[in-house]
Order: sequence, then structure tokens, then C-alpha cells
Amino acid sequence: PPLDEILNLHDFEAVAKVTLSEKAWAYYSSASDDEITIRENRAAYQRVWFRPRILRDVTVVDWSTTILGQRSSLPVYISATALGKLGHPDGELNLTRAAAKHGVIQMIPTLASCSFDEIVDAAQPNQPLFLQLYVNRERSITQRYVQHAEKRGVKALFITVDAPQLGRREKDMRMKFVGDDAGAKVQENMSGVKKDEGVARAISSFIDPSLSWKDIPWFQSITKMPIILKGVSTPEDAILAFEAGVQGIVLSNHGGRQLDTSRSGLENLIDIVAVLKTRGPWPNPNFSVFVDGGVRRASDVLKALALGATAVGIGRGFLYAFCSYGEAGVEKAFQILGDEFEMNMRLLGARNLQEVVPDMVDASALQAH
Ligand code: FNR
Repeated sequence: PPLDEILNLHDFEAVAKVTLSEKAWAYYSSASDDEITIRENRAAYQRVWFRPRILRDVTVVDWSTTILGQRSSLPVYISATALGKLGHPDGELNLTRAAAKHGVIQMIPTLASCSFDEIVDAAQPNQPLFLQLYVNRERSITQRYVQHAEKRGVKALFITVDAPQLGRREKDMRMKFVGDDAGAKVQENMSGVKKDEGVARAISSFIDPSLSWKDIPWFQSITKMPIILKGVSTPEDAILAFEAGVQGIVLSNHGGRQLDTSRSGLENLIDIVAVLKTRGPWPNPNFSVFVDGGVRRASDVLKALALGATAVGIGRGFLYAFCSYGEAGVEKAFQILGDEFEMNMRLLGARNLQEVVPDMVDASALQAH
């Protein structure tokens, strides 16, 4: 369908499903094992109900925010999704260019199919970019990569901590990886490609499973970028992260692609915010709590913000937007979300994101243990 018939982020997924190659669809859409967690990522949002407030003069509504010190037109950032060229010849550059036009922040994946420098070169001079890091067994490679990113102006480092080994994504494993798949040129970090275990496993064998809390000071010693741990699920680990002196966490299950039957980030948010509140001011300007997984509507984002999230990441929503429509698709996705924020905030009675407060949601069905 023509782009102007796309009405929401779900529509991009429906188009991607029928237009992508079988292999790209398998890699992008798959989740681990029985795909329970990916289902819950969506379902969790549907168990949170709004408590809208009325008569508040919502003529002017503002949904812009600051994420890790960077201005963002949306309380949403583009989360890292690997191998963009499986779905579109321009790969991740579609995201970079659209993000520039709309003031949105892109997280560059370690396993991008465009090189890191190609992506940074495609960005506007002051366009904020984040970097997602898979830590290499060979630490000198990681050190060079991180320090190069900092030199090139990347504003924050998101270290992925939920993937010491890649999850079993069986849809993807039924496909064989071919080295030059769709021209996917995975960067210098990749080594030891195994050709018979699906795309994800083929490209991830460099990742270091020995990574531990003891390594955090080393990251802090090699970069001044804020460090965020991507893939936290429990209050215990949220506290360890806080005490380690990092600048934030992402409550994420990697889009359902890692440990199946782990809970959704949204469900974990309430307990994690509660425990962080015992450790200092809240919201804490020095410690951000992000959520990702299953976010497809501005109303989803508003629920997470009401429950204490600083901002929210979207992976597949933007990925599917560029697979079918390139850069214009991503621009359309931003515009759709903006329209949804305007309407939902008016109907909710919030003129800005500070006014999106816990009392605006009823999450009692979320954690009915
Ligand atoms: C991902 N994600 C991911 N995360 C990461 O830290 N490094 C990576 O290389 C990737 N690659 C990747 C590929 C694909 C195809 C998907 C769908 C996801 C996880 C991603 O950053 C984010 O956590 C989820 O995508 C969020 O869930 P939704 O928005 O896709 O439902």
C-alpha cells in the first residue's frame, strides 16, 4: 500500500511481513523458544488502564523531552536492531536521516550492516547518537571501538548485558546464513562466522560471555560517555547498576529474543522504580530508567512514563518502517507517534510529560501475581 495509507506502527509490520524476504522476516520477527516473552511485551501494555483527568485546558500540548542530556522531539529513541540491510539496501542510514529531520535519537548497533563511520557521516553535525555495545572477547577491539565512538561525538554507551549467548530463535535457525546476505557487511567486530545456525548465531560468536560487574570500572575508565546497561530485569540488578555508578538502565528482554518467559520491561518497571526511590531523589537526574519491548503506540509510551520511565525504546516499529518505505517510512512513523502523543495527552489531561504522573494509570492488573 502507498505510505499515506499507513495509519499506525502495526501497519508497517503487516507490510514487512508480506514484502520482506523469508530470511529477513525470520531474523527480524523471531523471538526465543516458544515466543512467550514477545507476546507478553505487547500484552503487558494492554493490562494497564488510563485514569484520564478532565477540564485542564489542553490547547497546547508538548511531548518533547531530554534523554541523557540530549533534546528529543519524542520521549522515544530508536533502539539498536542489527543487520538493517537484510531489509533495505540503505540499512540503518534510513534511521539516521529520518532521525536528523525529526530530532529523534538513534542508537547505533554494534552489528549494524552499515559501518559505524558511514552512519556518523550521514548524521547532521549536532545530531545526537547513542551506541549499543556488544563486548568483544578481545577487549582491545572494544576499547578502540568505544573510544572511536566517543571521539566521533556519540553521546551515550548502551552496553547490552542480556546476551552472554544469543537466544534460540528457531524461526531464524531454520534459515542458513550466507556470508554476503543482502550485502550485509557486518563490521570489524564480527569474527568466527558459523554458517549453519541462522543469522543471529552466525554473527554473534565474538560476544564475551565472561562479562561481569567487575568489568564496569574498566568501561568507566576508557570513556567519559554516560554508560547505560541494556537488559536489566530485576530490582536486585537495578541496585547493583546504581551502586556501580552507571548513568542508567534499560528494562528490556531484547524484544523477547533472549531468555524466554522472562517478564516484560513494563511489568518490571514498578518494582524497580520503587527500589530506586529508596536510594535517593526521584526522578533522579543522574540515573535514567528506560523501557523497551512491544511499544507500538504513544499510549504505550505514556503508560511507561507514568510508571516512572525516563523514555522508551522502539526496535521493530522503526525497523519495519524502513524495510518497506525507506527513510520516508521512518519519518511517517515519527509523525504518527507525534499525532498519537498530541491526542492521547489531550485526552489524558497532560500538557507536558511532567504532568504524566503515576495517578494517571491503573496498573493493578499488571502485577496480579
Ligand atoms: C534487536 N535488539 C538488539 N539489541 C541489542 O542490544 N543489540 C542488537 O544487536 C540487537 N539486535 C536486534 C535485532 C532485531 C531484529 C530486533 C528485533 C531486536 C533488541 C532491541 O534493541 C530492543 O531491545 C527490542 O527490539 C525492543 O523490542 P521491540 O520494540 O522490537 O518490540
